Parts: sequence; structure tokens; C-alpha cells
Amino acid sequence: MLKSKTWQLTAILMLISDWSQCIKSQECTVDPPENIGIDDPGHLGPLYIHWTAPASLTNLTACSMRYHLEYFNTYQSRWTVIRTVRTWYRAQFDLEKEVRVRISTLLKGACTNGTELKSPFTEMVLPPNNTGPVGSRVQGFGCVFYQKEFMECTWETGLEEPTQSQYSLYFWHREMEQAEECPQYIHSNGVRTGCKFTEESLSEFSDFNICINSSSPEVVLRSAFFSLQIQNYVKPAAIETVHLEASPDRRLQVQWDLPNERIPRHCLEYEVEAREEGVGGQPLLQRNVTNEMTLTSLSMDGARRKCFRVRSRMHHYCADRGFWSDWSHWSCHSDTESDAVVGCAVVIGIIVSMLILSLFGWALWRKWKAREGEMMPFSPLHKLMEYSKGLSARSHFNKTRENQ
Ligand SMILES: *[C@@H]1O[C@H](CO)[C@@H](O)[C@H](O)[C@H]1NC(C)=O
Ligand SMILES: *[C@@H]1O[C@H](CO)[C@@H](O)[C@H](O)[C@H]1NC(C)=O
Ligand SMILES: *[C@@H]1O[C@H](CO)[C@@H](O)[C@H](O)[C@H]1NC(C)=O
Ligand SMILES: *[C@@H]1O[C@H](CO)[C@@H](O)[C@H](O)[C@H]1NC(C)=O
Ligand SMILES: *[C@@H]1O[C@H](CO)[C@@H](O)[C@H](O)[C@H]1NC(C)=O
Repeated sequence: MLKSKTWQLTAILMLISDWSQCIKSQECTVDPPENIGIDDPGHLGPLYIHWTAPASLTNLTACSMRYHLEYFNTYQSRWTVIRTVRTWYRAQFDLEKEVRVRISTLLKGACTNGTELKSPFTEMVLPPNNTGPVGSRVQGFGCVFYQKEFMECTWETGLEEPTQSQYSLYFWHREMEQAEECPQYIHSNGVRTGCKFTEESLSEFSDFNICINSSSPEVVLRSAFFSLQIQNYVKPAAIETVHLEASPDRRLQVQWDLPNERIPRHCLEYEVEAREEGVGGQPLLQRNVTNEMTLTSLSMDGARRKCFRVRSRMHHYCADRGFWSDWSHWSCHSDTESDAVVGCAVVIGIIVSMLILSLFGWALWRKWKAREGEMMPFSPLHKLMEYSKGLSARSHFNKTRENQ
């Protein structure tokens, strides 16, 4: 017992004198980690990197040992640096690209008199397993997470059409033990061109990894790998009802109801498009983005009808990005107030003008009547009539006299 303690003490002392000497001469060398390995657990992206401490430092006790790990992050095109005391690390890689990892040993403590010593790097490079012709890789891959209820990912077949082989989609996220095949393929002309994921198969705020490869090992198609954060692909449902309400000060209140969906209200922003049908010319468009579920619009000048439609999108509080929903139907408001005023004015005008006309007509008639009454006894016409009456009477008399 005592013996072994003494031995340890001398070993540490020896080491200290060793290190201090090399620090003085600036010729200290620390060995890099050994037995570096990179394992693929089949999760379509995450790789398990592991290593062991350098054999020369296994009995070191007075110094702390750490590791400096760097890996090339192909998603960001730069090296990511990690410092850890563990001898393993898990990182996400794009398996269509080269995997590059480098690790060094860091030593610091009493044995180095407080200075941090760093070993040279041990580097490991894994080439991607790119089998199959380049042109057979799927193109135009994209996903839409509808109303946070289900997700559809679609692709176009590569330039080199698959003949005896179909594409297969595999996916994995952190809640799954193993990668699984697409639960429901979408077909177009008998070829698989998409996959529909039900809610149970999805996981937000974590890497959702997808691999599209060939369905048979005989005909090899180039595999494609994708990694998404599915909360960034949400497309909300279209808004169904938009209410318009005019206030007495000629402002229009635009309000809308959310369709029954699982996206929390505070996670959405809205765009309201207003279209004015002005007096002649092009309709006027105006767009406003708001977090509220209501918008007050100044009533328009000269516009008779104002129409509104609304769409929604994930707000950056809840996701980095997303898709706009489809537009709601147009909801229109006619300026009935001014219509009524114009209508009233027209009716009143007609009534007034009719009144004036009839008054004028009555006056004319009165005048004419009065003149007629005045003229009757003395008018030359009257006299002529009287005279002709006398004449005819006289001739009648003569005739009767002749006949007798
Ligand atoms: C250790 O460091 C201290 C100051 O940091 C210095 O005074 C001392 O000489 C160093 N010892 C050796 C052995 O280098
Ligand atoms: C470390 O110590 C063990 C005994 O505890 C010994 O067998 C081994 O050789 C030592 N390793 C080195 C590198 O000194
Ligand atoms: C490539 O495939 C081989 C076996 O076919 C596997 O051991 C290796 O890990 C794969 N490389 C990557 C980067 O997945
Ligand atoms: C396609 O990828 C999955 C998941 O990695 C794998 O299990 C399957 O064997 C692959 N298919 C072919 C034909 O390589
Ligand atoms: C809507 O946006 C326009 C500019 O595009 C702005 O003049 C108007 O005040 C906004 N309306 C509301 C209600 O925010």
C-alpha cells in the first residue's frame, strides 16, 4: 500500500520534471488520439465518431486531458469545432459528401506547469458512397407540412428514368430506433414521386433525415440525402371567413376567423390584401402584414367597393420560415352610405323636377283656359260661327218656302 503510493508520487514528480524541461526547451510533444473510428448507425446522417487516449498518456494523473475535435460541416461549408473530455462524439453529416474529421489531444495542469499543450491532428476522411449514375439522382425535392397535420415530400425522377427500379424513401428522426420506409408513397404515372407522412411519423425541432435510393440492389440509382427541420415547412390552412364592418367614421374593420387547426395563434402572421375598385382605371392593390387578427382600413376616396382577402404564415417566433397559406375568398364591402345619398338625391331631384313641371303645366293650362273664356263672345271665329249659323237657317227657310 505505502509502497505503491510512493511509486505513484515519484512517477508524477518524474513526469513534472519531464514536462517542465520540455516546456523550457519548447520541444514538448503530446501524442494525438488513437484508434479513430467513424460508425454509421443507419440514421441517414448522424455518424458516431470515437477514439482512444494516446497510449503514452494513459497513466497520467496530475494533468487533465481533453480533446479538440473538428469536422467539416457540409451544411454550412465550414469547420465546426468541439472540445470534449469524452472519447466519442455524434454529428450530423450530409452522406452525399465527403466526411472529414480531425482530432488532437489537449493537456493542461500541474504536469505542464499550467500551460496548455496541444498534439498534432489525427485526420480521417471518408469518401461518400456515391454509387449509380449522377443523372439518376432525384431532383426538385421539396416538403410541405400541411397545417402541422401531415407532410408531403415530392421529387422529380432523375434525368435517367428508372427502368426496372423504383425510388424508395427512408426516413429517421431522434424518436426512432431505426430508419423506416415511407408510410405512403405518392405515385404519378406509375412512378413513385412523393411520400405522405402522417402526424405520428413526424418530429419537430430535430433533424428529420431522408434518403431516397433505389428500391432494388440490382439496378442502382444514385442515393440522395436530405435533412430538414420540419417546423420550417409549415403551410397553414386557408382562412375561411373574413368579416367586414363599417364604423360611422367611414373606417372598415377587417376581421377573420382561423380555421380549426393545430397551429397556435401566436405562431401566425397575416397578410391582408385590399383591392379598391376605383372610379375607372385599374383596381388599386394594397398589402399589409400584421400579427393581429384584425385590421382597420381607412375608407377609400372615390372607391365604391373595397374587397379584402387574407392569408397566413408561420411567424418567426415559432419557425425560421414557412409557406404562405392559400388566400381566403374575397370579401367585399360596398359603400352603401354614399350609394344611398346618391340614390336619395336622384329621387328627390326627379320629384322636384316633376313638381316644377306639373306646376308649370298647370299654370299654362290656367292661362289658356282664362284666355279661352275671355275670347269666346267677341272672337272673329265666334262671329263667323254665328253668321254661318244664320246663313244656314235662312237657306233652310228659303228651301222650305220653295218646296211649299
Ligand atoms: C512554472 O510557471 C511559473 C510561473 O507561471 C514559473 O515561475 C516557473 O518557473 C515555471 N516552472 C517551470 C519548471 O517551468
Ligand atoms: C501504466 O500503468 C500500468 C500499471 O498500472 C502499466 O502496466 C503500464 O505499462 C503503464 N503504461 C505506460 C504507458 O506507462
Ligand atoms: C459507405 O459504405 C460502407 C459499406 O458499404 C460503409 O462502411 C461506410 O460507412 C459508408 N460511408 C458512409 C460515409 O456512410
Ligand atoms: C436504401 O436505404 C435504406 C436506408 O439506409 C437501406 O436500408 C436500403 O438497403 C437501401 N436500399 C438499397 C437498394 O440500397
Ligand atoms: C397598409 O400599408 C400601407 C402601405 O403599403 C400603409 O400606407 C397603410 O397605412 C397600411 N394600413 C394599415 C391599416 O396598416
